[in-house]
Amino acid sequence: MNRVVKQDQPPKFWDRLFAPSSCLAVITTVDAQGRANAASYGTCTRVNHEPVYIAFTTSAGKDTANNLLATGEFTVNLPRWERSTLEKVRICGLPFAPGVSEIEKAGFTALPAKVVKPPRILECARHFECRLEWTREWAGGRLMVCGKLVAASVDADCVDDNGYLVWDRALSAHYCGAPYGGGFVAAFQTMFVDRPYEGPEAEQAERDARAMFKEG
Ligand SMILES: Cc1cc2nc3c(=O)[nH]c(=O)nc-3n(C[C@H](O)[C@H](O)[C@H](O)COP(=O)(O)O)c2cc1C
Repeated sequence: MNRVVKQDQPPKFWDRLFAPSSCLAVITTVDAQGRANAASYGTCTRVNHEPVYIAFTTSAGKDTANNLLATGEFTVNLPRWERSTLEKVRICGLPFAPGVSEIEKAGFTALPAKVVKPPRILECARHFECRLEWTREWAGGRLMVCGKLVAASVDADCVDDNGYLVWDRALSAHYCGAPYGGGFVAAFQTMFVDRPYEGPEAEQAERDARAMFKEG
């Protein structure tokens, strides 16, 4: 007899229930004059493993959207789950006028990116430089953005020799969702679990993974 009680949630609670949903990110772009812009995003997520593609949703007509459509590049900066950084992330979410640098307003430090024009943010641990692949306008003024990763960098003490994250240094942060206001959650515990299933599907999955990552 299953004694777990499931509670249906109304639509107004769906966003706060699905949390964390993706990495908290500060995304930089540049306008046609080369002026840097930064904005905070809770919807930024990796949508393909190999090659890596990263997507997020923004508002059509805002600086990030306008800059992307004009210059076609963005840099995703992933902040740590630490109070001083998260306060700056909240400032980058304010509606500053076009041409105003949220990086300066928030007290972040711009660091040139390796390949694209939008800068990295020094205080963030991980940086993903992307070229725009496609956009789609939907849901009444929302612009979905998908970019191909062309360069990635990280604070050296946040990864091991195999490129795996040292989670208690990278301190991955996630936005709890708009209804939470300033709520952020940390996710930096890892658990490697077995797959207690033997069958052709498991062997096929191993072959697919090897082919995808060109290993062995
Ligand atoms: C923590 C946090 C998460 C946010 N997530 C998103 C998001 O996923 N999508 C979005 O359109 N706006 C999001 N915002 C709001 C934008 O950052 C805000 O609209 C910003 O002013 C856009 O800047 P821009 O005009 O420079 O593009 C978020 C703000 C904060 C503080």
